[in-house]
Amino acid sequence: MFPHKFRTLLTIFLAISPALLDQSVSEPDSHWEAKRRLLREKVRRMFYHAYDNYMTHAFPHDELRPLTKTYTDSLSELGNLKLEHLPQDYNGSALTLIESLSSLIILGNNTEFEKAVLWLSENLKFDVDARINLFECNIRVLGGLVSAHILATESTNRLVPGSYKNELLFLAKDLGERFLPAFDTPTGLPYAWINLKYGLTADETTETSTSGCGSLILEMGTLSRLTGDPRFESAALRALRKLWSMRSSLNLLGTTLDVETGEWIEHSSGIGAGVDSFYEYLFKAYILFGKEDYWRMFHSAYLAVQKYFRHGPWYHEADMRTGKATYWQLTSLQAFWPGLQVLVGDIAAANSTHREFVHVWKKFGVLPERYLLDHQMVHPTEKYYPLRPELAESTFYLYQATKDPWYIEVGESMVNSLNLYTKVKGGFASVRDVTTMQLEDHQHSFFLAETCKYLYLLFDDQFLVNQNYVFTTEGHPLPVMRDWQERLPETFIPTNWTFVKTDERTRRVSAMSLQLCPALSTPSHGQRMESACHVPDARGNHRCLTDEDCGIDSTSCRRRSCSMAGYCGLWLFL
Ligand SMILES: *[C@@H]1O[C@H](CO)[C@@H](O)[C@H](O)[C@H]1NC(C)=O
Ligand SMILES: *[C@@H]1O[C@H](CO)[C@@H](O)[C@H](O)[C@H]1NC(C)=O
Ligand SMILES: *[C@@H]1O[C@H](CO)[C@@H](O)[C@H](O)[C@H]1NC(C)=O
Ligand SMILES: *[C@@H]1O[C@H](CO)[C@@H](O)[C@H](O)[C@H]1NC(C)=O
Repeated sequence: MFPHKFRTLLTIFLAISPALLDQSVSEPDSHWEAKRRLLREKVRRMFYHAYDNYMTHAFPHDELRPLTKTYTDSLSELGNLKLEHLPQDYNGSALTLIESLSSLIILGNNTEFEKAVLWLSENLKFDVDARINLFECNIRVLGGLVSAHILATESTNRLVPGSYKNELLFLAKDLGERFLPAFDTPTGLPYAWINLKYGLTADETTETSTSGCGSLILEMGTLSRLTGDPRFESAALRALRKLWSMRSSLNLLGTTLDVETGEWIEHSSGIGAGVDSFYEYLFKAYILFGKEDYWRMFHSAYLAVQKYFRHGPWYHEADMRTGKATYWQLTSLQAFWPGLQVLVGDIAAANSTHREFVHVWKKFGVLPERYLLDHQMVHPTEKYYPLRPELAESTFYLYQATKDPWYIEVGESMVNSLNLYTKVKGGFASVRDVTTMQLEDHQHSFFLAETCKYLYLLFDDQFLVNQNYVFTTEGHPLPVMRDWQERLPETFIPTNWTFVKTDERTRRVSAMSLQLCPALSTPSHGQRMESACHVPDARGNHRCLTDEDCGIDSTSCRRRSCSMAGYCGLWLFL
């Protein structure tokens, strides 16, 4: 996805201004290439250390306990902490294996991928009496399955021909159908929890989060596109629209809400826990499905974030009703934001925020879950680092966009920290307390789905060269295809859904070339790329004075103008 996009951009740009040639595409120097190869091999070893230990000590259960070399059936625990009752002979859902599928392909291990696909095809069942978190199960299991299904069908040399008969897609559809009762509410907003076997249970909590309702569209939309069954995408889209309709007049949303009444419960929000992937999915849904609607929602939401949450390179939280700052805290989940900004085109803003996160990482050796910005100290109870991927993810995006070797050094220090502090004989363990580096007996599946994957892609982007991908919030790649961009789910009814639509891969429309324009005006002040939503910071209030301040919309390549209220906007009628 990204490198391809970026190359397209450079090509266009260079045609305009060859003078910048040596600056922008000087061949990466061989020292850095050698370093990248070395680091790639280090990450490969990390992945297999985590994977092989999982397969030996935990599979087919969900996740590995690396200190005791045992397992946990965490699919039912996710986001819950207290283990619900599970059937006596339950052996898990092979969660970590599902999460590893796309990473195996990216690492080039087609044989192991095939073995895993065949095992899952024969053994995975969702008819279990387990209460699962819809959001977590969607991004990890449904996302893992649809992505792997596409990878399994997209290239003939990935699987022995004829060995795969869309079993993962059948499994995904079965799971998607088990999700649907959660959406059966007066508002269309889904319950946060559902029992896989029995559906919605009596006295289930009606409280959920913004990301819980607003980050289902990539996976459920993909499921609809693959099966031709519009129910999944419709349910996710209806929830997303309802959520968006609940925004305040400042275009801000809260963090938690009630799915029956559609009322907000927690009015304070930011870009971290409970909200993060809502923003991410608005933009990525736009790239994947090409609907203007997603762009319009994202654009308004992004402007509001920059206006009310941003403070220099930091993002605090604010009350959705007043825009007043509430919490001055950094959460490690926020570290994904610079990666999203790179996709949007706000490279400079991404760079400055990313640097601050790197600074905190270096201070502790890893990233604490919550850090008090006003006191410059770790939050007294949220001192953990569960091997989260977000900083590696934005480092990867920033390297792709800039090719600045500094990001390779950041990646190197992350790889070294992870090996130094979290590697144990039985896998990789989460850090319980970043101030003491005391470990916890848990290797989360996202360490394989995301942390290792983004670090690997930072050092080897071969996977991305010939195809554009959007990565879900769990790091599962979905290809950007032209035929998904032209039809809406309501009208998209293929003749039979076992026929996988893999034709007409969109090579021409790269996601990034859609988002970024070559600077049409003089590139002399060093700004080669226009940001999609950039609102100048020079005056401190993020407001524009003239149209000149607003630059060019990188989606449509049209000039944007400054509104009377001081906001840059793309006026479609212009
Ligand atoms: C779980 O594994 C045990 C031991 O291999 C087996 O006896 C049992 O039938 C399995 N349970 C299910 C639901 O497959
Ligand atoms: C693929 O993974 C399996 C299991 O870890 C390993 O034994 C094998 O060597 C790997 N193959 C390649 C080509 O990396
Ligand atoms: C990122 O920020 C650093 C420090 O301010 C600066 O030296 C570097 O040029 C920036 N890189 C980009 C791509 O903006
Ligand atoms: C579905 O479509 C494909 C491709 O056109 C075809 O080969 C296959 O036989 C069809 N399957 C069914 C069940 O109609």
